[in-house]
Amino acid sequence: MNLRELAGQIESGKFKQSLERHLSLETRTLLDAMTAKETEDRLSQIVREPIQLSGENSRELLQLYYTASWLHLFETLNISPQAKLFEIASGDTDFIPQALDAYAGAEGRYVTANLNKELTQQFKRKTAVLNVDVQIIEDDGARILDYVEGGTFDAVAFHHAINDIVQTIIADAEGIDTVNNNWWDIEPQMLKAVMEYHHSGRLKDAVCETFIGIVDTCRGLLKQAGYMIFDNCSYDGYEQIGYSTAFHSNYINLARAWIKEANLGLEEVEPEGYDGKWWMILRKV
Ligand SMILES: C[S@@+](CC[C@H](N)C(=O)[O-])C[C@H]1O[C@@H](n2cnc3c(N)ncnc32)[C@H](O)[C@@H]1O
Repeated sequence: MNLRELAGQIESGKFKQSLERHLSLETRTLLDAMTAKETEDRLSQIVREPIQLSGENSRELLQLYYTASWLHLFETLNISPQAKLFEIASGDTDFIPQALDAYAGAEGRYVTANLNKELTQQFKRKTAVLNVDVQIIEDDGARILDYVEGGTFDAVAFHHAINDIVQTIIADAEGIDTVNNNWWDIEPQMLKAVMEYHHSGRLKDAVCETFIGIVDTCRGLLKQAGYMIFDNCSYDGYEQIGYSTAFHSNYINLARAWIKEANLGLEEVEPEGYDGKWWMILRKV
């Protein structure tokens, strides 16, 4: 979302009882002490390409940027206050359940499908404090319709997840176990493999059909006029590990092109403040 608007909302105290509860006392004290202009400047040093996390409190300020941006989207898109939301590939990131918790509280229902076992355990610990109903399915999101009824969800979240899905498809093709290994131990291997498929022009053939199958399954999960929301960002330091910021920053455009080509019955909407390079919001028609 627009950083000036976000800084104004922070200054007005909008998130004090909700999203800011999940921040450290130090970060909350810092936010209290800053004017809206200072908060906007601080956020704009972090939320850029690539994301800069070296400054103090940056991780938590980025967390607030994402949780508030998703909350703002739920408001802007008029998602039901009794929202049912499915997130694919959450890993141990609790931003989307936090945003839904702030929006819908105990009336909301959050379901995620996540494959990696260790990250799922951390996710369980982190989300235990939330009021929103959390269900974790330890399986591939491609099989979500085996667990929940189709046509019943208000929104599907792909938070920084296109890359995770692509990496997992390539890892499967290369015989790398993404379920039982520590995700961060195998990530360099996965990124190297993705780059090799990309440079040799094999990425689309290897990934597109499975990826589109997942998107189509998520479409089946949605109610009519429900939303599928994708975001992406590039973190600093990719080049140092043989990965590419330019490649990673293009993930939304890549997914947009594949989804458009597949003609799935999804139309893009463009809310103000959500840059199409980093966000893609699709409505089921
Ligand atoms: C590093 S975490 C990413 C968390 C979150 N998307 C983020 O970027 O903050 C990657 C997770 O995505 C999961 N994943 C990738 N493809 C998946 C799929 N098709 N279904 C379920 N989980 C998947 C992996 O198992 C892993 O737990």
